Amino acid sequence: MANQLLAGKTGIIFGALDEKSIAWKVAERCHDEGAKIVLSNAPVALRFGKIQELGEKINAEVIAADATSLEDLENLFKRSMELMGGKIDFVLHSIGMSLNVRKKRAYTNLKYEWMQKTLDISAISFHKVLQTAYQLDAIKDYGSVLALTYIAAQRTFPDYSEMAESKSLLESIARSFGYHYGTRNKVRVNTISQSPTMTTAGSGVSGFDAFFNYAEKMSPLGNATAEACADYCVFMFSDLSKMITMQNLFHDGGFSKMGIDPSVIQ
Ligand SMILES: NC(=O)c1ccc[n+]([C@@H]2O[C@H](COP(=O)([O-])OP(=O)(O)OC[C@H]3O[C@@H](n4cnc5c(N)ncnc54)[C@H](O)[C@@H]3O)[C@@H](O)[C@H]2O)c1
Repeated sequence: MANQLLAGKTGIIFGALDEKSIAWKVAERCHDEGAKIVLSNAPVALRFGKIQELGEKINAEVIAADATSLEDLENLFKRSMELMGGKIDFVLHSIGMSLNVRKKRAYTNLKYEWMQKTLDISAISFHKVLQTAYQLDAIKDYGSVLALTYIAAQRTFPDYSEMAESKSLLESIARSFGYHYGTRNKVRVNTISQSPTMTTAGSGVSGFDAFFNYAEKMSPLGNATAEACADYCVFMFSDLSKMITMQNLFHDGGFSKMGIDPSVIQ
Protein backbone atom coordinates (compact mmCIF):
# COMPACT_ATOMS: atom_id res chain seq x y z
CA MET A 1 0.00 0.00 0.00
CA ALA A 2 1.51 3.32 -1.02
CA ASN A 3 0.86 6.60 0.80
CA GLN A 4 3.07 8.93 -1.23
CA LEU A 5 5.33 9.30 1.82
CA LEU A 6 8.23 10.24 -0.46
CA ALA A 7 6.34 12.43 -2.95
CA GLY A 8 8.70 15.03 -4.41
CA LYS A 9 11.79 13.42 -2.89
CA THR A 10 14.85 12.23 -4.79
CA GLY A 11 17.40 9.59 -3.83
CA ILE A 12 20.39 7.49 -4.84
CA ILE A 13 20.19 3.74 -4.17
CA PHE A 14 23.37 1.67 -4.27
CA GLY A 15 23.49 -2.13 -4.47
CA ALA A 16 20.55 -3.54 -6.48
CA LEU A 17 22.05 -6.58 -8.22
CA ASP A 18 18.98 -8.75 -8.87
CA GLU A 19 15.37 -9.00 -7.66
CA LYS A 20 16.51 -10.68 -4.41
CA SER A 21 18.72 -7.72 -3.40
CA ILE A 22 17.45 -5.67 -0.47
CA ALA A 23 18.27 -2.51 -2.48
CA TRP A 24 16.01 -3.74 -5.30
CA LYS A 25 13.02 -3.95 -2.94
CA VAL A 26 13.86 -0.56 -1.42
CA ALA A 27 14.05 1.07 -4.86
CA GLU A 28 10.66 -0.37 -5.84
CA ARG A 29 9.03 0.77 -2.57
CA CYS A 30 10.54 4.26 -2.80
CA HIS A 31 9.26 4.55 -6.36
CA ASP A 32 5.78 3.44 -5.24
CA GLU A 33 5.88 6.11 -2.52
CA GLY A 34 6.50 8.83 -5.11
CA ALA A 35 10.30 9.23 -5.04
CA LYS A 36 12.52 9.76 -8.08
CA ILE A 37 15.54 7.46 -7.93
CA VAL A 38 19.01 7.11 -9.42
CA LEU A 39 20.34 3.54 -9.22
CA SER A 40 24.04 2.77 -8.88
CA ASN A 41 26.21 -0.31 -8.68
CA ALA A 42 29.75 -1.39 -9.52
CA PRO A 43 30.55 -1.53 -13.27
CA VAL A 44 30.80 -5.34 -13.14
CA ALA A 45 27.30 -5.56 -11.63
CA LEU A 46 25.95 -3.44 -14.49
CA ARG A 47 27.38 -5.98 -16.94
CA PHE A 48 26.24 -9.16 -15.17
CA GLY A 49 23.33 -8.11 -12.93
CA LYS A 50 19.77 -7.13 -13.78
CA ILE A 51 19.87 -3.52 -12.62
CA GLN A 52 18.97 -2.13 -16.08
CA GLU A 53 15.72 -4.12 -15.90
CA LEU A 54 14.89 -2.42 -12.58
CA GLY A 55 15.85 0.98 -14.04
CA GLU A 56 13.33 0.51 -16.86
CA LYS A 57 10.64 -0.69 -14.46
CA ILE A 58 10.84 2.29 -12.12
CA ASN A 59 12.00 4.83 -14.69
CA ALA A 60 15.37 5.36 -12.98
CA GLU A 61 18.71 6.30 -14.52
CA VAL A 62 21.44 3.73 -13.82
CA ILE A 63 24.92 5.17 -13.20
CA ALA A 64 27.94 2.92 -12.67
CA ALA A 65 30.16 3.67 -9.66
CA ASP A 66 32.68 1.53 -7.86
CA ALA A 67 31.90 2.69 -4.31
CA THR A 68 35.61 2.56 -3.43
CA SER A 69 36.45 5.12 -6.15
CA LEU A 70 36.18 8.80 -5.16
CA GLU A 71 36.22 9.77 -8.84
CA ASP A 72 33.24 7.50 -9.61
CA LEU A 73 31.34 8.78 -6.56
CA GLU A 74 31.92 12.42 -7.47
CA ASN A 75 30.67 11.77 -10.99
CA LEU A 76 27.62 9.92 -9.60
CA PHE A 77 26.59 12.73 -7.23
CA LYS A 78 27.18 15.46 -9.83
CA ARG A 79 25.20 13.60 -12.53
CA SER A 80 22.42 12.78 -10.06
CA MET A 81 22.05 16.42 -9.04
CA GLU A 82 21.87 17.39 -12.72
CA LEU A 83 19.21 14.76 -13.40
CA MET A 84 17.19 15.60 -10.28
CA GLY A 85 17.49 19.37 -10.73
CA GLY A 86 19.33 20.03 -7.44
CA LYS A 87 20.26 18.51 -4.11
CA ILE A 88 18.96 15.07 -3.22
CA ASP A 89 16.94 13.88 -0.21
CA PHE A 90 18.19 10.39 0.58
CA VAL A 91 20.89 7.77 -0.05
CA LEU A 92 20.91 4.00 0.58
CA HIS A 93 24.28 2.23 0.91
CA SER A 94 23.46 -1.47 0.39
CA ILE A 95 26.96 -2.74 -0.39
CA GLY A 96 28.89 -5.63 1.07
CA MET A 97 31.46 -8.14 -0.09
CA SER A 98 34.15 -10.20 1.64
CA LEU A 99 37.06 -11.53 -0.37
CA ASN A 100 38.23 -13.92 2.35
CA VAL A 101 34.71 -15.36 2.78
CA ARG A 102 34.22 -15.66 -0.95
CA LYS A 103 37.58 -17.45 -1.32
CA LYS A 104 36.88 -19.61 1.77
CA ARG A 105 39.87 -18.43 3.85
CA ALA A 106 39.37 -19.18 7.56
CA TYR A 107 39.14 -16.23 9.98
CA THR A 108 42.33 -17.50 11.66
CA ASN A 109 44.18 -17.48 8.33
CA LEU A 110 43.06 -14.24 6.68
CA LYS A 111 44.87 -12.80 3.71
CA TYR A 112 45.33 -9.16 4.72
CA GLU A 113 45.33 -7.62 1.23
CA TRP A 114 41.89 -9.17 0.82
CA MET A 115 40.78 -7.99 4.24
CA GLN A 116 41.75 -4.40 3.36
CA LYS A 117 39.75 -4.64 0.15
CA THR A 118 36.79 -6.06 2.11
CA LEU A 119 36.91 -3.16 4.57
CA ASP A 120 37.19 -0.68 1.72
CA ILE A 121 34.19 -2.11 -0.18
CA SER A 122 31.95 -2.88 2.79
CA ALA A 123 32.67 -0.03 5.22
CA ILE A 124 35.08 2.72 4.10
CA SER A 125 32.97 3.14 0.95
CA PHE A 126 30.25 4.48 3.28
CA HIS A 127 32.63 7.19 4.49
CA LYS A 128 33.56 7.91 0.87
CA VAL A 129 29.88 8.25 -0.10
CA LEU A 130 29.23 10.59 2.84
CA GLN A 131 32.39 12.65 2.34
CA THR A 132 31.70 13.09 -1.38
CA ALA A 133 28.12 14.20 -0.68
CA TYR A 134 29.29 16.50 2.15
CA GLN A 135 31.99 18.19 0.10
CA LEU A 136 29.64 18.68 -2.88
CA ASP A 137 26.88 19.81 -0.48
CA ALA A 138 24.67 17.34 -2.36
CA ILE A 139 22.06 16.48 0.29
CA LYS A 140 19.15 18.70 1.40
CA ASP A 141 18.63 19.75 5.01
CA TYR A 142 17.04 16.90 7.00
CA GLY A 143 18.04 14.49 4.22
CA SER A 144 18.52 10.87 5.28
CA VAL A 145 21.44 8.50 4.63
CA LEU A 146 21.17 4.80 5.49
CA ALA A 147 23.51 1.81 5.35
CA LEU A 148 22.60 -1.83 5.91
CA THR A 149 24.40 -3.77 8.61
CA TYR A 150 24.27 -6.99 10.61
CA ILE A 151 24.33 -7.90 14.33
CA ALA A 152 27.73 -9.63 13.91
CA ALA A 153 29.05 -6.08 14.56
CA GLN A 154 28.10 -6.59 18.24
CA ARG A 155 28.08 -10.38 18.74
CA THR A 156 30.15 -13.24 17.43
CA PHE A 157 28.86 -15.22 14.47
CA PRO A 158 32.00 -17.16 13.44
CA ASP A 159 31.07 -17.79 9.79
CA TYR A 160 30.57 -14.05 9.21
CA SER A 161 34.37 -13.74 9.53
CA GLU A 162 35.92 -10.38 8.59
CA MET A 163 32.50 -8.96 7.69
CA ALA A 164 31.98 -8.54 11.45
CA GLU A 165 34.82 -5.98 11.53
CA SER A 166 33.43 -4.34 8.39
CA LYS A 167 30.02 -3.89 9.98
CA SER A 168 31.49 -2.52 13.24
CA LEU A 169 33.39 0.06 11.23
CA LEU A 170 30.34 0.86 9.11
CA GLU A 171 28.22 1.53 12.21
CA SER A 172 30.94 3.69 13.73
CA ILE A 173 31.16 5.77 10.55
CA ALA A 174 27.38 6.38 10.74
CA ARG A 175 27.77 7.79 14.27
CA SER A 176 30.85 9.91 13.51
CA PHE A 177 29.63 11.32 10.19
CA GLY A 178 26.16 11.71 11.67
CA TYR A 179 27.65 14.25 14.05
CA HIS A 180 29.37 16.30 11.34
CA TYR A 181 26.54 16.16 8.79
CA GLY A 182 23.92 16.79 11.47
CA THR A 183 25.56 19.91 12.85
CA ARG A 184 26.18 21.39 9.39
CA ASN A 185 23.05 20.43 7.43
CA LYS A 186 20.72 18.49 9.76
CA VAL A 187 21.42 15.49 7.52
CA ARG A 188 20.63 12.22 9.32
CA VAL A 189 22.92 9.19 9.14
CA ASN A 190 21.80 5.77 10.43
CA THR A 191 22.38 2.05 9.95
CA ILE A 192 19.66 -0.62 9.80
CA SER A 193 20.68 -3.98 11.27
CA GLN A 194 18.69 -6.45 9.19
CA SER A 195 17.76 -10.12 9.77
CA PRO A 196 19.45 -12.78 7.63
CA THR A 197 17.89 -12.42 4.17
CA MET A 198 18.13 -14.80 1.18
CA THR A 199 20.19 -12.73 -1.28
CA THR A 200 23.44 -13.20 -3.23
CA ALA A 201 25.53 -11.57 -0.47
CA GLY A 202 23.60 -13.35 2.31
CA SER A 203 23.84 -16.85 0.92
CA GLY A 204 27.59 -16.37 0.32
CA VAL A 205 28.10 -16.98 4.08
CA SER A 206 28.69 -20.69 4.72
CA GLY A 207 25.89 -22.59 6.47
CA PHE A 208 23.52 -19.73 5.65
CA ASP A 209 20.37 -21.90 5.41
CA ALA A 210 20.82 -23.44 8.88
CA PHE A 211 21.62 -20.05 10.27
CA PHE A 212 18.58 -18.45 8.60
CA ASN A 213 16.35 -21.12 10.21
CA TYR A 214 17.97 -20.60 13.63
CA ALA A 215 17.36 -16.82 13.47
CA GLU A 216 13.78 -17.46 12.34
CA LYS A 217 13.15 -19.51 15.49
CA MET A 218 14.97 -17.06 17.76
CA SER A 219 12.92 -14.06 16.59
CA PRO A 220 9.44 -13.71 18.10
CA LEU A 221 8.21 -12.10 14.88
CA GLY A 222 10.33 -14.32 12.61
CA ASN A 223 13.06 -12.98 10.33
CA ALA A 224 12.37 -9.59 8.79
CA THR A 225 12.04 -9.94 5.02
CA ALA A 226 13.66 -7.72 2.39
CA GLU A 227 10.19 -6.26 1.71
CA ALA A 228 9.77 -5.33 5.39
CA CYS A 229 13.24 -3.77 5.31
CA ALA A 230 12.12 -1.69 2.33
CA ASP A 231 9.14 -0.43 4.36
CA TYR A 232 11.48 0.59 7.19
CA CYS A 233 13.79 2.40 4.76
CA VAL A 234 10.81 4.34 3.36
CA PHE A 235 9.97 5.49 6.90
CA MET A 236 13.62 6.46 7.52
CA PHE A 237 13.73 8.46 4.26
CA SER A 238 10.42 10.17 5.03
CA ASP A 239 9.78 13.27 7.13
CA LEU A 240 8.24 11.01 9.82
CA SER A 241 11.72 10.13 11.12
CA LYS A 242 13.17 13.65 11.07
CA MET A 243 14.81 13.52 14.52
CA ILE A 244 16.46 10.09 14.22
CA THR A 245 20.19 10.16 13.61
CA MET A 246 23.47 8.40 14.57
CA GLN A 247 21.56 5.21 15.42
CA ASN A 248 22.02 1.55 14.70
CA LEU A 249 18.41 0.40 14.30
CA PHE A 250 17.63 -3.29 14.71
CA HIS A 251 15.15 -4.56 12.14
CA ASP A 252 15.15 -8.21 13.09
CA GLY A 253 11.81 -9.40 14.48
CA GLY A 254 13.19 -9.14 18.02
CA PHE A 255 16.28 -11.38 17.53
CA SER A 256 18.72 -8.88 19.09
CA LYS A 257 16.88 -8.84 22.42
CA MET A 258 16.50 -12.64 22.78
CA GLY A 259 18.46 -14.94 25.08
CA ILE A 260 17.06 -18.31 24.16
CA ASP A 261 13.88 -19.70 22.63
CA PRO A 262 12.77 -23.16 23.88
CA SER A 263 12.10 -24.33 20.31
CA VAL A 264 15.82 -23.96 19.56
CA ILE A 265 16.77 -26.26 22.48
CA GLN A 266 14.25 -28.86 21.35
N1 LIG B 1 21.40 -10.73 3.12
C1 LIG B 1 21.56 -10.69 4.44
O1 LIG B 1 21.39 -11.68 5.16
C2 LIG B 1 21.92 -9.37 5.08
C3 LIG B 1 21.69 -9.19 6.46
C4 LIG B 1 22.06 -7.96 7.05
C5 LIG B 1 22.68 -6.98 6.27
N2 LIG B 1 22.89 -7.21 4.92
C6 LIG B 1 23.56 -6.16 4.14
O2 LIG B 1 22.69 -5.67 3.15
C7 LIG B 1 23.47 -5.09 2.11
C8 LIG B 1 22.93 -5.57 0.77
O3 LIG B 1 23.20 -6.94 0.60
P1 LIG B 1 22.14 -7.97 -0.06
O4 LIG B 1 21.92 -9.02 0.97
O5 LIG B 1 20.99 -7.25 -0.65
O6 LIG B 1 23.03 -8.68 -1.19
P2 LIG B 1 23.38 -8.29 -2.70
O7 LIG B 1 24.46 -9.24 -3.10
O8 LIG B 1 22.16 -8.31 -3.52
O9 LIG B 1 23.94 -6.80 -2.61
C9 LIG B 1 25.29 -6.48 -2.39
C10 LIG B 1 25.64 -5.41 -3.40
O10 LIG B 1 26.96 -4.85 -3.19
C11 LIG B 1 27.41 -4.46 -4.47
N3 LIG B 1 28.84 -4.16 -4.50
C12 LIG B 1 29.86 -5.02 -4.23
N4 LIG B 1 31.04 -4.40 -4.43
C13 LIG B 1 30.76 -3.12 -4.80
C14 LIG B 1 31.55 -1.98 -5.13
N5 LIG B 1 32.89 -2.03 -5.12
N6 LIG B 1 30.93 -0.83 -5.47
C15 LIG B 1 29.56 -0.75 -5.50
N7 LIG B 1 28.76 -1.81 -5.17
C16 LIG B 1 29.36 -2.97 -4.86
C17 LIG B 1 27.03 -5.68 -5.32
O11 LIG B 1 27.14 -5.46 -6.71
C18 LIG B 1 25.62 -5.94 -4.84
O12 LIG B 1 24.69 -5.22 -5.60
C19 LIG B 1 24.92 -5.46 2.41
O13 LIG B 1 25.55 -4.38 3.10
C20 LIG B 1 24.76 -6.63 3.34
O14 LIG B 1 25.90 -6.85 4.16
C21 LIG B 1 22.51 -8.36 4.33
